[in-house]
Amino acid sequence: MRKILITSALPYANGSIHLGHLVEYIQTDIWVRFQRLNKHEVHYVCADDTHGTPIMIKAQNENITPEKLIDNVHKEHSKDFEDFFVSFDNFYSTNSNENKFFSEDIFNKLNASEKITSKEIEQFYDPEKEMFLPDRFIKGECPKCNAKDQYGDSCEGCGATYSPTDLINPFSSLSGATPVKKKTKHYFFKLSECEKFLKNWATSGTLQKEAENKIKEWFDSGLQDWDITRDKPYFGFLIPGETDKYFYVWLDAPIGYMASFKNLADNKNLNFDEYWNEKSNTELYHFIGKDILYFHALFWPATLNYSGYRKPTKIFAHGFLTVNGEKMSKSRGTFITARSFLEHVNEPEMLRYYYASKLNDSMVDIDLNFDDMLSKVNSDLVGKLVNIPSRTFGFINKIYNGDLKKLADIDFNLYPNLVNDSIKIREEIMELYEQRLYSQVVKKVFNFVEQANEFISKEEPWALAKDLKTNSDKLLDILTITTYVFRNAIIYLTPIMPKLSDKVALLFNQDTFNSFDEVENLIANVNKYTHLMQRLEKSNIDNMIEANKVKEQKKEIPGKDDMNNLINIDDFLKVDLRVAKIINADYIEGADSLLQIKLDVGNLGEKTVFAGIKSNYNPDVLVGKNTVFVANLQPRKMKFGLSEGMILAASDQEYGPFILYPDDGAKPGMKIK
Ligand code: 2FM
Ligand code: ZN
Repeated sequence: MRKILITSALPYANGSIHLGHLVEYIQTDIWVRFQRLNKHEVHYVCADDTHGTPIMIKAQNENITPEKLIDNVHKEHSKDFEDFFVSFDNFYSTNSNENKFFSEDIFNKLNASEKITSKEIEQFYDPEKEMFLPDRFIKGECPKCNAKDQYGDSCEGCGATYSPTDLINPFSSLSGATPVKKKTKHYFFKLSECEKFLKNWATSGTLQKEAENKIKEWFDSGLQDWDITRDKPYFGFLIPGETDKYFYVWLDAPIGYMASFKNLADNKNLNFDEYWNEKSNTELYHFIGKDILYFHALFWPATLNYSGYRKPTKIFAHGFLTVNGEKMSKSRGTFITARSFLEHVNEPEMLRYYYASKLNDSMVDIDLNFDDMLSKVNSDLVGKLVNIPSRTFGFINKIYNGDLKKLADIDFNLYPNLVNDSIKIREEIMELYEQRLYSQVVKKVFNFVEQANEFISKEEPWALAKDLKTNSDKLLDILTITTYVFRNAIIYLTPIMPKLSDKVALLFNQDTFNSFDEVENLIANVNKYTHLMQRLEKSNIDNMIEANKVKEQKKEIPGKDDMNNLINIDDFLKVDLRVAKIINADYIEGADSLLQIKLDVGNLGEKTVFAGIKSNYNPDVLVGKNTVFVANLQPRKMKFGLSEGMILAASDQEYGPFILYPDDGAKPGMKIK
């Protein structure tokens, strides 16, 4: 028996669970349920991620304490997870005694192993609110196009990127006051000293290949020490020995995995140390989104290593969710909360099934296409799967009083051996689950579900039933064979659709299916068929999207239509525009809107720019594309590095940014005139 501790990323306690979050919780829960069916000792823990400035501000705006806010959200999240059958053994909170204990413990141990340093840094400070400002709370006029109300790192109007100090008339978005620069002492975790350990750890099979490649890029660009401090006021844990400095939320968040397990262990009498001490033989898996790989594949194992705890066995990162091919959007009504889905679709297992049919072990994004989902659930689940008992159970009950034939009494020379096939496939299905290749599980299972349906259509039980004197024996053969196939399909789908599985188990006089080995169990009789699943109507989806449409407020961008600012051709020709090929694109830790982009500009060589396009692009889709590059822009030093130019993108108040691409045939380095 394996001993396995499994986690999903901790959701922030300042917003609702939405369909994007659910990709991960459903992906993890399927794996958890699969491992439980394997009879391993499995613990699945999670918690709300409760600390940080946004949560503190949100509570202030709502005129409640942060504790009250996170308490409300915890209730909401718990209910959402329960209703989507996400089967945590513990869904806890990072604002707990256990988490405080382990955060201090780890910090002290890191200190003892000389992995903590402190130094004075300079940051923007809001003199009215008396607090240091994270970049996202600093706004001002774009230094390039004068658009008002732009964030501290880039302009949503013209796409320019800069650092907060470049803003014209910067102001705190919290108080409106002009921020001043102020010095403060911060503690840093010396990640730069962990390179040797991390290189080793990250290449020892702990990461997916794609993640490993990403990490190599991070090693290449050098590991920076990590600022783990936030000054007061902050909602979080005080750093030991300090009265006004707190742990940055990302320090205590992953420790929340440990704390949630500690809380579970205390309640259930489990051995905490067995799972967390340095020499642990148990397995630890973290399911995460690819955007938080940096935290889980660098900071987390390094902090664990130098504080004497075990490291994760593997990190499983998944891609983002797009809806109908695009980023989820409030204006298009595709930013859908878990609750709203339940209210309109009323069948959470349809989402679980649809996600499973698309999920695999990679970091590639997955698309929720509502037309596709509608046709898939109606055709696969209702039209094929549930269709088997709805076409056969009536006869079994009416004619044979619910009794099936003994398998040994069926002459399988007369029929395709579907029962055997559905048993033989077990090992393969288990391996696919283990590898998280759920889309292939679904394919394999539906392959024999389809065969069973074809078999029914060909043998026509309803026709045979008309002349029972002649056909009774054959009819029962057919009903028996298809019932076995149906039951086995459901057993295999149990991790994906646990509620449907339980309903079906009742048809076979069982509360639940407990193991894949049960495909070998003989069935003596079945209960009366009860309705299992209803078709999904298009109107439910349409109503859901309509209900989620939020009219976005238009932002004012002055100067855009100002035609008095004409330039002559010489002015224009001063701008050196070039074709450039995107050879690499990456998220930047701590940047709200920027991506780091590496360009091949032909004979001008390679250039790096920081572009404010994160809101509309995943880095992966950009690589390999040609775009338009401003080559003679003065390089600008930004918080994240030197920006050596700019790439062009279109946008208006509502949509964008959209990157410009030259037509086919354009080559890197070509001049644009
Ligand atoms: O990105 C997020 O939503 C974070 N709240 C995830 C935290 S996961 C863990 F490390 F705590
Ligand atoms: Zn601008």
